[in-house]
Amino acid sequence: MKLWSGRFTKPTEGIVDEFSASIPFDKRLYREDIEGSIAYARMLGECGVIRRDESDKLIEGLKAVLGDIEAGVVDLSLDAEDIHTNIERLLEARVGEVARKLHTGRSRNDQVATDTRLYVRREIASITGLIRSLQWTLVDIAEKNLDCIMPGYTHLQRAQPVLLSHHLMAYFEMLERDVGRFRDCSRRANILPLGSGALAGTTFPVDRKLLASMLGFNDITRNSIDAVSDRDFVIEVLSACSITMMHLSRLSEEIVLWSSSEFAYIELDDAYATGSSIMPQKKNPDIAELIRGKTGRVYGDLVSILVVMKGLPLAYNKDMQEDKEALFDGIDTLKACLSIVQPMLRSVKINKERLMQATRAGFMTATDVADYLARKGVPFRSAHEIVGRIVLYCTKEGKTLEELSMEEWKSFSGLFDEDIKGVVSVEASVAARSVPGGTARERVVEAIARARQALSEAR
Ligand code: ARG
Repeated sequence: MKLWSGRFTKPTEGIVDEFSASIPFDKRLYREDIEGSIAYARMLGECGVIRRDESDKLIEGLKAVLGDIEAGVVDLSLDAEDIHTNIERLLEARVGEVARKLHTGRSRNDQVATDTRLYVRREIASITGLIRSLQWTLVDIAEKNLDCIMPGYTHLQRAQPVLLSHHLMAYFEMLERDVGRFRDCSRRANILPLGSGALAGTTFPVDRKLLASMLGFNDITRNSIDAVSDRDFVIEVLSACSITMMHLSRLSEEIVLWSSSEFAYIELDDAYATGSSIMPQKKNPDIAELIRGKTGRVYGDLVSILVVMKGLPLAYNKDMQEDKEALFDGIDTLKACLSIVQPMLRSVKINKERLMQATRAGFMTATDVADYLARKGVPFRSAHEIVGRIVLYCTKEGKTLEELSMEEWKSFSGLFDEDIKGVVSVEASVAARSVPGGTARERVVEAIARARQALSEAR
């Protein structure tokens, strides 16, 4: 029998139960649901809404139900719609009639909002832990490869030489912002809706502040209608997931590019690559590709909840049950990606010679030559033009900047001196960028130290 069957004259069709049930996916909220109910039962007892002995019995029963679910000895039934109703039924089977008092002053609407917030809060803690360990990995690799110079790119064209470590530390920064976003989400998710009832509040003297402190919420929601109809926290966390996925996707894209024969900057470990069913020579970066692909899926989760919510009148509507699959999927997907990208990165072999060799072609120190002239008083725009002509000349002659003779330099400007030789090397180019945030070795060393410090304090 349905827990709301009183006003109905006949049971629902089987197809209706199947269509409207959320138990196949919301069963994973069982811990949060029981945690919330235990606090609720305790509060009801403390506030005198039910007797203490009743409250104790409920708590004991709920703990037993938790044990049963974890031991896999109970069936969660479709007929009972969702996890909230299932647990109430299991509780009644355990402790009898008194179980029917648990829902006093409560609605599934404030209950599900509470459970989902508890879930989001817990998952955010686990996600930030995974992001932290990926950051450690980046810092370790950056520190180990401080001597490695590579082409930095804009428009995927060789632009200026940079330290590989500097490039890797760019991802550290992105992830740092991601952690900040998740923390921020958590702050707003961690507000208690319970006690809002179906939408208008409750007639019972429930102590919401007590509930909040028992459940570790920072505050209580201020408007009961908003409390049961708000899913901003779901949207916020999925948006934070999407942004982190975008970062992982950009990293993955570079892994795919860099492991191609065209770049050959890195080699993936065999344990993190896959073969082709037809081409025996292939070694494919499937993991990186999948992360890139799954990014689209997480965006889909975010967009789906945004669209679900956009036309809903206040307060609760059943449409909102659709929040869960998107939420679970987005979080599961992000966690899976974070978990695999870290060991994959650690196993990557970096082809330093190849990276260095790639900096030789492409006139990557042309800006340094222009800066040289600018330091000697030539307006930068004019210096840019002169160096443009030098590059054109080199292209025609098949020479690199380093191969130009003093005579050739002088033919473009009398301001060139012997010291230009020290300026056009990629090492000099990197070393010269010692502005804060620049790629000079001492700056990158500093950045790594700062990152290590921040990570160890974050523990
Ligand atoms: N299973 C529902 C959900 O996930 C919660 C139940 C509230 N349903 C209701 N008809 N009042 O949103």
